[in-house]
Amino acid sequence: MVATKNFGKWVVLATGGTIAGTAASASDHTAYTAAQLGVQQLLSAVPGLQDALQGDALVCEQVAQLDSKDMDHATWQTLALRCAHGLAQADVGGIVVTHGTDTLEETAWFLQAVLAPTKPVVLTCAMRPATALMPDGPQNVLDALAVVRDPMARGVLAVCAGQIHCAAQVQKVHPYRLDAFSSGEAGPQGWVEQGRVRWAGMPAEAFVHAHAGQALARPAADWPWVEVLHSHAGADARQVRALVAAGVKGLVVAGTGNGTVHQALLAALTEAQSQGVAVRLCTRCPEGQIVGVPAVLLSAPPGLNVYKSRIALMLDLMV
Ligand code: SIN
Repeated sequence: MVATKNFGKWVVLATGGTIAGTAASASDHTAYTAAQLGVQQLLSAVPGLQDALQGDALVCEQVAQLDSKDMDHATWQTLALRCAHGLAQADVGGIVVTHGTDTLEETAWFLQAVLAPTKPVVLTCAMRPATALMPDGPQNVLDALAVVRDPMARGVLAVCAGQIHCAAQVQKVHPYRLDAFSSGEAGPQGWVEQGRVRWAGMPAEAFVHAHAGQALARPAADWPWVEVLHSHAGADARQVRALVAAGVKGLVVAGTGNGTVHQALLAALTEAQSQGVAVRLCTRCPEGQIVGVPAVLLSAPPGLNVYKSRIALMLDLMV
C-alpha cells in the first residue's frame, strides 16, 4: 500500500482540454472537440478511483471549460485563486488540475510563480479525447492522484504518460504522441508505476549496506564471489551449474523486460538458490526498474544496474 500524508481531502479543478474532449468516432484522435465533458463525467470514467482514494474525499470544481490554446489571464487568475483557496484548507492535501496539453506548461509555470505552494498542485491532461477507444485521460488522472497523495510531492508538477515533470522544465514536445511532454536535459522528476511513485535521484542513504565496513577490514581475496549473468535467447543452464560447482556465493541476473528469465536459466537459478547461493534479479533494460514482485527470485536494490547490484550483493554477503 502506498504511504500517504495525513490529509483527508483532495481537490480536482477542471479547466477543459482534450481530456474532456469528445469525437464522433472512437478511432478519431485528432478531429475532436476539446472541453466537452464536465468534471463529474470525467472522474466517473476513471476505473479504480475510489480504491485509489482509500476512503479520502475528492472535491471537484469546474473552474473553466476551454481548449487550452485559448487560455487567458482571467482564467489563470481564477484558477490560481481556487488553488490558493483549496491549499489553505488544513484537511486538503493537494490539488489536481485537469488541463489541455497545448498550454499546460504555461499554466504550470504561472501557478508555480504566483503560488509557490508547499503542498502539491498536479496538472494532468490527455492526448486522446475521452471518447477514444483507448483514452489516456483516466490513467493520467489516477497517476496524478498517486502523485498528489505522495508524501514527497511538493510545488507545481505535471503528470502525463507515467512521467512526473516540474513546472519550470516541463514542455510539450510532440503534437500527437501519448508521452508528449519532456523536461529536456533535466529529465523527469519521477515516474508512476502501477500506482506507485518513484522519484528520480534516490538519496545516497538509500544505498547504505549494513556490513559494508567489513570490505575494508577483510582481505580482498576473501570477499564473497558474486557473478553477473544475463538472460537472453538460447540462455544455457550449464553456466549456473558450473559456477555453483566452482563455489560461487552469489549470482546477479540481468533479466529481460520486467525481470523475466529464460526458463532454462530460471530452473538452474532456482536450484542454485535452494543450495544456498544468493540470487538477485535486475532488468537488462537500461532505463526503469522491475515493477511488482517477481515470483521466484528476489529483486536487486531498485535503481542499481546489474554491475552495481553485484557489488551490493557482495557487500550484503559479508556477514
Ligand atoms: C487543449 O490544449 O486544450 C487541446 C489539446 C489537448 O489537450 O491535447
